[in-house]
Amino acid sequence: MRQSNHTTDKAGKTYWDAAWQATAQPRLVVPNDRGLRNHVRRRFHEFFYGLMNSRRGQKVIEVGCANSIWLPYFATEYGCTVTGLDYSTAGCASAEAILKTAGVAGSIIHGDVWNPPADLVGAFDVVSTYGLVEHFEPTEDILLALAKLLKPGGLMITIVPNMVGWAGLVQKYLNRPVFDIHVPINLKTLQTAHQRAGLTPQQSHYLCSINFGVLNLNDAADNTSFRLIKKFLTKALIALSALVWWIEDHSPLRLPPNRLTSPYIACIAIKSDDSMRQPHE
Ligand SMILES: C[S@@+](CC[C@H](N)C(=O)[O-])C[C@H]1O[C@@H](n2cnc3c(N)ncnc32)[C@H](O)[C@@H]1O
Repeated sequence: MRQSNHTTDKAGKTYWDAAWQATAQPRLVVPNDRGLRNHVRRRFHEFFYGLMNSRRGQKVIEVGCANSIWLPYFATEYGCTVTGLDYSTAGCASAEAILKTAGVAGSIIHGDVWNPPADLVGAFDVVSTYGLVEHFEPTEDILLALAKLLKPGGLMITIVPNMVGWAGLVQKYLNRPVFDIHVPINLKTLQTAHQRAGLTPQQSHYLCSINFGVLNLNDAADNTSFRLIKKFLTKALIALSALVWWIEDHSPLRLPPNRLTSPYIACIAIKSDDSMRQPHE
C-alpha cells in the first residue's frame, strides 16, 4: 500500500489563515449587472443557472467556503439552504461576514473535510467547491471525501483553476510558490478522478474565455525592479482580458472556453446509489 499524505492540502492551514486575514470582503454577486467588471460573474451565473434552476430549495454545501460569494448567491437566487465548511478560522469568519452582508441565514462550520461532523455526512443535494480540489493529491481521494457529504443522486460541482493553461504558465513564472501549492489538473484528469471516486460525470468543460485577473502576485519577488515588471505584465494581461470581455459584451464575437486561455475547469458529476468505494490505496 502506498504511503499518502492526501489529507493535507499543499498550502496548509497557516497559509489560508494569513491569506483570509489579509483579504478584503468581496462584493456580492449581482447577476444582472451588465458592467465589464461583472463579466466573469455573469459567465458563472449562466453556468450555475443551468445547474441550479431545477434544484431550487435544495441543500447546498460549499467545502473550502472561505470568502465565498457563491453561498449567498445560491440562497438568494435559488432559495437553497446553504452551509459552508472550512478548516481555516479566518476563512470561516470571512464566509460568515459575507452571508451577514447579504442578509442570508446560512451555516458556516469550522471543520475538516477529511473528518466532517457526522450530521453533514450524506446530508446534501449539492456539494460545491471552487478552488479546493487542486490543493490535494491524488485528486480522486479528495473527491471521495467530498462525495461522502452528498445524498445518493446528489450533484457534485467541482471548479478548479486551469493551471495547465496560459494563466497557469504565467503564474509559474511570476510567482512559483503560489503555483506550487496547486496540482496542475487538466480536463481529462479531472473527469477521470471523478470517475475513480465513484461519481458519474455529466459534463466537464472549460469555464469563461479568459481572465488573467486570477494571477496571484503575493510575495512575487524580492528584487524591486523585477517586482515592477511583474506588476506591469500582470496589469497588461488583465487589460487584455478586459478587452476580450468588452468585445464579447458588445459584439456577436465570443472566444469559446478553451484549454489555453480559459481560467477555470468545471466538472459536474452525480453520486449514484452504489457509488461509494473504498479510499484510494
Ligand atoms: C482556494 S480556497 C477556496 C476559495 C474560496 N471558496 C473562494 O470563494 O474564493 C481553499 C479553501 O479550502 C480550505 N481547506 C483546505 N483544506 C481543507 C480541509 N481539509 N477541510 C476544510 N477546508 C479546507 C482552506 O482553508 C481554504 O479556505
